[in-house]
Amino acid sequence: MKFSGFSMRLFRALRAYFVFSSAAATFSAFCAAQTPAAQPSAPDTMAARVKACAVCHGPQGEGTHNDYFPRLAGKPAGYLAEQLKNFRAGRRNYPPMNELVTYLSGDYLYEIAVYYSKLRPSHMPFEPSVSEPFSPSRFARGQMLAQEGDAAKGIPACIACHHQTLAGVQPSIPGLLGLSADYISAQLGAWRSGSRRAAAPDCMQAIAAHLSDADISAVARWLSMQVYHSDLAPAPAGSVQLSLQCGSVPH
Ligand code: HEC
Ligand code: HEC
Repeated sequence: MKFSGFSMRLFRALRAYFVFSSAAATFSAFCAAQTPAAQPSAPDTMAARVKACAVCHGPQGEGTHNDYFPRLAGKPAGYLAEQLKNFRAGRRNYPPMNELVTYLSGDYLYEIAVYYSKLRPSHMPFEPSVSEPFSPSRFARGQMLAQEGDAAKGIPACIACHHQTLAGVQPSIPGLLGLSADYISAQLGAWRSGSRRAAAPDCMQAIAAHLSDADISAVARWLSMQVYHSDLAPAPAGSVQLSLQCGSVPH
């Protein structure tokens, strides 16, 4: 059976969702650790708190080989904390994530974010897919969008904000390396359709609105082929001059 790009993405998202049921036991243990009654017996270390997360995000936050589970390790803490709050407030939708963070306080979410921001896994759990065809013209289009943008279509270069190295910028702009093409294109598609929202003005929404399906697939694929290095840390705050205003970036 041949899936279209979209139904394949949907299929992977659903498969990702059902993996969650096998994580249910760890998940209940995680919830139990949040209730005062369970506290005397549950050791409250950060490693214990994030056990439920490792099923999908990997023991070092590197992601898993499932194309839809993103790397968390090394992304700026401000960005990660903002996303956890977005899941809590329903500005991002992925039921297991929404459920996990519903009852957690902002301080607690921030501590988890700081923990993941400091991890530097030595490898990524997947290799960019080379079996899928990627024509030279699509490669060139993806590279152009990432490095130069397309002024005629109102699309700024991704590196203008995500940094020349694509490793992100402290404290709120995530790196785009070490993510699968499926994850990146699903996020851009979610911004375009309004199911992922960031603080206003939502610059990523404005950018995604100008990207065609072909643009999304080309830039996502090109980004997924760029090599992730464990020593690539996000650049210091203020390293880039934002070409559009982004509400989640302090200024
Ligand atoms: C069932 C699998 C699953 C579990 C368990 C899980 N996550 Fe996630 N997480 C995901 C998926 C899938 C996404 C991307 C969802 C989307 O499309 O927006 C995500 C997204 C995230 C993001 C946003 C990443 C980014 O780069 O924007 C953060 C932060 C995060 N998860 C943290 C956690 C933490 C902390 C835990 C444990 C308390 C956890 N997750 C448990 C599957 C999971
Ligand atoms: C004007 C600045 C700006 C530009 C230009 C920009 N981004 Fe972003 N991007 C951001 C900010 C800020 C965030 C974090 C949004 C949030 O808080 O949810 C982000 C987040 C993302 C994410 C989510 C990463 C994750 O881990 O979930 C992806 C994917 C992304 N951008 C892709 C792109 C691509 C592709 C381009 C180029 C076509 C691009 N961005 C151009 C500012 C920018």
